[in-house]
Order: sequence, then structure tokens, then C-alpha cells
Amino acid sequence: MAQNIKKIAVFTSGGDAPGMNATVRAVVRTAANFDIEVFGIEAGYEGMIDGNLKKLEIRDVSNILQRGGTFLKTARSERFLTAEGRNAAAQSLKKFKIDGCIACGGNGTFTGADLFYKENGIPMIGIPCTIDNDLYGTDFTIGFDTAVNTAVEAVDKIRDTAESHDRLFFIEVMGRNAGFLALHTAIGSGAGNVFMPEKDTSIDELVTSLKKASKRKKLYSLVIVAEGNHVGNADHIAALVKERLPEFDTRVTVIGHLQRGGSPSGLDRLLASRLGNAAVEALMDGHKNVMVGMDGNLIKHTPLAIAVKNQKEINLDLLRLAEMLAI
Ligand code: F6P
Repeated sequence: MAQNIKKIAVFTSGGDAPGMNATVRAVVRTAANFDIEVFGIEAGYEGMIDGNLKKLEIRDVSNILQRGGTFLKTARSERFLTAEGRNAAAQSLKKFKIDGCIACGGNGTFTGADLFYKENGIPMIGIPCTIDNDLYGTDFTIGFDTAVNTAVEAVDKIRDTAESHDRLFFIEVMGRNAGFLALHTAIGSGAGNVFMPEKDTSIDELVTSLKKASKRKKLYSLVIVAEGNHVGNADHIAALVKERLPEFDTRVTVIGHLQRGGSPSGLDRLLASRLGNAAVEALMDGHKNVMVGMDGNLIKHTPLAIAVKNQKEINLDLLRLAEMLAI
């Protein structure tokens, strides 16, 4: 049902993701087409609690499409976890006569947004922005493609030195409790062994695979380690392997926050533009607490509670593919 939306607010929250700026730009520019005023909230829920809102005009979002980070700033708010904090946030939005909010973030952000809507009735629309790609209801999250590209580029560089020295490298990537980043990085960089949360891989299996590779005259190897895997971090896995294969010359690289920065890829810019647009239209269409996402090539609305609660399936055939191609 079409709603009379006059003023909306937008904010970025949780870990930043490349493409957040492009998302806010799409929100502001879409809204301008319908004469809707947009207010930017500084530093996510923290700014909402403190009433740090400022009007965003169409020229305020010029020249940010290509920038990493988030010009609105972001935070993980402890205060918003309390009823007192959420109450103060609702008062701020009421003071500015905000008809609906657009939350750009991940799991934690949407958990808070869902609760906030249920407590205060202020419509909250989520846009999935996280390098982890761990949200149900969208094939991809904004920032994931860029983070994969960054990790692949890093592994390409490590490959040069690994090959020169005939070394075994363990490369740790982010992803929190999901292995999407690790798996896509492995395929994109030609690494055949992956430790990730969705599959129990044992040190025994890795040792067997490395021995086989060695027999096939593979002189160097790259192992991708997702930070959330069951065995431990890359240092720990490397130490366990070294005990079993002391003859291997091993090294560890943790890519870390490099994966969160940088200019968004073309795909992330496209996704950010489409989902930013879809979020404003969702508010206008009367949606109250959904996440906008992509299913195939189509916009999909998923209740926020489902987006955070349901487990997004990882395609384990891709792991087989990584192993087969890195023979
Ligand atoms: O959720 C994005 C993410 O980068 C995760 O991959 C990682 O576990 C976490 O954030 C790191 O958070 P912080 O920047 O607060 O250390």
C-alpha cells in the first residue's frame, strides 16, 4: 500500500563495507526523485541516540560512489542494546519527524532494527552491507565482491613469493562465522585447501592432501583459512601442520582489515545502487521491517527477523571445485 513518506533517515552501522557510500548516494538520490527529505545519521545507532542527524541534499552525495568506508561513519553501539538507548533513539527520530529509516549493515544492525520497529513502530528497512555475505534473503551482500577481489589480489602476490621459495602458505581471511569469503577467494586465486566454518576439515585431511600434492611435484601450496573455522586461526593450523610435516617451509599471512577497505567493485556499485533505490521504494510501498536483497537478478523483501535468523546455505560444490582445479 502506498504510504505518505516525507522524511526518512539513513545510517551505516556495524563493520564498514565497500559500497556503503554508493548505497547512501542511491538512497538520497532516489528519495529526491520523489521529493522525500533525507537525513543522514552519524555513526549508526550511536548518532541516533544522540540526535546527530543532518539533512543530506543531492550534492552532498556527489563524488562518493567510488569511495570505500562510509562518510556517515559507523559504530557497533552498546547503548542501543539497552531499552534506555533505544528509547532515546526513538525520541530523536520523532523530534525530526522521521517517517522511516534505512539501515545499512549486517546481522547486528538488523537484529537491532527489528527490535526497534517492534518497540516503536518506526519502519526500518535493511540494506545488506557486509563483506561476510552471511545474510539470508540475498544472493550477495554489498562489499562482498570487493573484499573477495582484495583477498584474491593479496593471494596472487603471496603466490609469487610462495612459488619462488617453494613454501607452504596459510592465508587467513575474515568472514566471521561464514566461509563465503574464504571459498570465493580460494577459487579466484587457485588455492585448493580451505578451512571454513561450514565444513569440518581435519589436519589429517590437509596433511594427506599436501603429501599427495607433493608427490605430484607441486612444490608450493596455498591454504585459505576462514577466521571462523573449527580448528583455529592460521597460526595455530600452521603450527599443527608443521609438527606433522617438519620438512615443509611454512609461513602465515593474515589479510585482516585490508579486506574492508578500498574502492567498491563495479558489481558492488551496481548492487548498492539497486538496493539503495529498492529500500526507498520499499518504504513508499508500505514495508515496515524488511531487508531488501537480490534473488537471482530480482529484488526480494525478507523480514528482518528471518534475514538474521535463517542460515544462508553455502554451496559446498564450490569447495570440491576448488580442490579439483588446484590439483
Ligand atoms: O563483519 C565484518 C567483519 O569484518 C568480520 O569479517 C570480522 O570478523 C569483523 O567484522 C571484525 O570486526 P572489527 O572491525 O570490529 O574488528
